[in-house]
Amino acid sequence: MEKKKFDPASQIQRLEHFGEFGGVNPSITDSSTFTFMSAQTMLDTFHGEVEGCFLYSRHWNPSNKYLSDAVAAMEGTEGAWVTGSGMGAITTVLLQLCNAGDHIVTSITCYGGTYAFLKNYLPKFNIDVTFVNISDLESVEAAIRPNTKLIYTESVTNPLLQVSDIPKLGEIAKRNNTRLVVDNTFTPMILSPYLLGADIVVYSMTKFINGKNDAVAGAICASNDFIASISDVNDGTAMLLGPVLDPMRSSSILKNLHTLHIRMKQHSNNAMYLANRFKEIGLKFNYPGMPEHADFDLFNSIRNEEFGYGGMIAIDMETPERAAKLMEKLQEKGVGYHAVSLGYFKTLFSNSGKSTSSEVPESVQLDMGMSPGLVRFSVGLDNDIESTFQLIRSCLVELSLI
Ligand SMILES: Cc1ncc(COP(=O)(O)O)c(C=O)c1O
Repeated sequence: MEKKKFDPASQIQRLEHFGEFGGVNPSITDSSTFTFMSAQTMLDTFHGEVEGCFLYSRHWNPSNKYLSDAVAAMEGTEGAWVTGSGMGAITTVLLQLCNAGDHIVTSITCYGGTYAFLKNYLPKFNIDVTFVNISDLESVEAAIRPNTKLIYTESVTNPLLQVSDIPKLGEIAKRNNTRLVVDNTFTPMILSPYLLGADIVVYSMTKFINGKNDAVAGAICASNDFIASISDVNDGTAMLLGPVLDPMRSSSILKNLHTLHIRMKQHSNNAMYLANRFKEIGLKFNYPGMPEHADFDLFNSIRNEEFGYGGMIAIDMETPERAAKLMEKLQEKGVGYHAVSLGYFKTLFSNSGKSTSSEVPESVQLDMGMSPGLVRFSVGLDNDIESTFQLIRSCLVELSLI
């Protein structure tokens, strides 16, 4: 019997949201503003003193509330707030927690857009950032200063698939009176960072959570106090910078969220299948579900087992030229699409160094151990994964890459 740590899928399943006329899906509230019968209630709502009243959709909207409640249930947090993109979630959290003169300790391996924000954008506000190897816990703690407001990491990093030791990072954050912020985009349901010790969890819902590549969206999961602080009309970063999600999209993402558990299992099963077959043919690759992976034991000790090890595999083609040849051939043969992003029902692949990590200077890519020929695979929901493997193998053979 597998040990069950937390069951995010049942948390979502238990939610019941009726539509206005009893629809099984909640009605979409297609309104930017809301009426009040009394001037006093409007004023009290502005001051955040009235539960269940909606003011203006940049602040809160019923459709966004339904999705936020579901994402919070999945994470085990008190609350959540949904954003117009994953970057909207990340930047809102960082700007809310930091003032000019503050400091952040971050994993050097992270999504290229996050890296660029930390490296190139935050200096505008005199916010200092120290980049560390997040697996080296001593260097994480050593980097903390009196003005450090947060430690930032991705639970499984993009694209190196390094697993963050969230419980230990959470302890370091607490001991040093700072916060741990975790981007769980690669591993929804598989990892529950808040329950493992993170203070705030962020998502690009563009990826696995939505799973359809028809929307860009994000989420912030945290305590009610933090959610109230970001949506405060006077000084809340979400309220004042306005990265809100459109309610139409909230509604469609909520429906997709209800199938996330099935999709995560299939993504993970397919990735594990391919990883085992890649091993047999001697391909150089990285998958955190393989015993050879440096963080295999750690991952096993923190994951919600039934959802597997995730759908992301990094294949090392050594050079960008070999990576390009392979990706073009894979697309030609119908394995999937040569495209950025992940968590789609079809397999997607891209050369990280030349795409989603191109914001990271090449010298830094090499320092962090990212091969210039790394092909990041987001494995799809293929029903016949053996035939997918056979197609991949035939591409590799045809191009004399194995
Ligand atoms: C791990 C991770 N976090 C955040 C983002 C940014 O999300 P979005 O594109 O929805 O803004 C991405 C996008 O690729 C990502 O891979």
